Amino acid sequence: MMDRSEAARRVLRDNDRGGYTVPTDRLYPFQWNWDSAFVAMGFATFDTGRAWSEIAWLLRGQWEDGLVPQIVFHAPSDDYFPGPEVWGIRRDPPTSGITQPPVLATAAHRVLAADATEAGEARMAAIYPRLRDSHRWWAAARDPAGTGLVATLHPWETGMDNSPAWDRALDRVPVTTRTEIRRRDTSHVDPAFRPRAIDYQRFIHLVEVFRDAGWEPGRMLAASPFRVADVGTNAILLRAEQDLLELAARFGTPAEAAEIAARIARMEAALESLWDEGRGCYLPRDLISGESIPFRGSAGFLPLFAGQARHAAALAGTLEGWGKSVRALVPSTDPGDALFEPLRYWRGPIWAVVNWMVAEGFRRCGQEAMAGRVAGDTRGLIAAEGFSEYFDPLTGQGIGGGTFSWTAAIWLLLGG
Ligand code: DGY
Repeated sequence: MMDRSEAARRVLRDNDRGGYTVPTDRLYPFQWNWDSAFVAMGFATFDTGRAWSEIAWLLRGQWEDGLVPQIVFHAPSDDYFPGPEVWGIRRDPPTSGITQPPVLATAAHRVLAADATEAGEARMAAIYPRLRDSHRWWAAARDPAGTGLVATLHPWETGMDNSPAWDRALDRVPVTTRTEIRRRDTSHVDPAFRPRAIDYQRFIHLVEVFRDAGWEPGRMLAASPFRVADVGTNAILLRAEQDLLELAARFGTPAEAAEIAARIARMEAALESLWDEGRGCYLPRDLISGESIPFRGSAGFLPLFAGQARHAAALAGTLEGWGKSVRALVPSTDPGDALFEPLRYWRGPIWAVVNWMVAEGFRRCGQEAMAGRVAGDTRGLIAAEGFSEYFDPLTGQGIGGGTFSWTAAIWLLLGG
């Protein structure tokens, strides 16, 4: 029988479409931004050449202004909605026009560590300017006022599409669409595990707002009825800036390093402003009302991944508390929240990629016991259920799509 690590490598190979990897067959038939970053790190544990290629293929979709899109449509497929015709972006390859949590510089940094050779340095030297441009895009397009917090304009950009965190902010988004919604996901996966029809109406309405804004960042920012500071995106970006700063020292100029360091200082201070002492967690903010969103989810632990250690003990305490009502950590929603749904996508299930970042964060911030527990739970789930898209925190059951690339990558990153 194939051992689990061999099976993980097989999943990555099977989901390879000739240089890039699909998240899973059929349900997600294109290249996704943050999926590919984790996949590159997973490949780096056994095939660094393939890891570099994953990044290079994603960057084929990068826009001139630096945007790294959420999806790159390398090859046609009828298995997914919304496809390129809904986005209406004429590029080669076609892409969507929004982004996703920026794990990419962190991934490239890690691939280089696994491939500390002259060839690896050459690959990195070619990629570094693209990463630099993508971080400049985040600052210019999503934080033009220099607050230190970037705005997210679509729940798909947070990667945590239907998290209860966005429920109230989404109330502002009309449910009307000009586009006919022809979902494919619910023919691949039980609809009870997926976002609801009304969520999709709002998701597509937002796409239409941005299409009408001509995909121009300033107009999108002004026109979007959904604008939030997501803890996850901001923490992941801060971590990516730290990794980019190390790369800039080797592949960039002193002026670029100074520019990145200045952004880091601003972001560290701003991220701390999202801490909520009473709730013992970092909370997202609605950037239209200016109000804090009183929702505790797995993203609330991610500042640890960026080395924000000040509240590490309190966060370990919060998670310890959650652990009393679930079988495994980390549920995507506080299990004590009335909106917790253990089976529905980002409203409760455990996601291996978030767990890996949370475990890394606790370790980086000196909370070894909690780091070990989260990593151990993640390994336990995958060992028992395989490379599922996500897991029920109450039973440990694997749900959503099967043979998922990023779950396989996390198994390898956790030591195989
Ligand atoms: C989807 O279509 O479910 C994806 O999460 C969008 O990125």
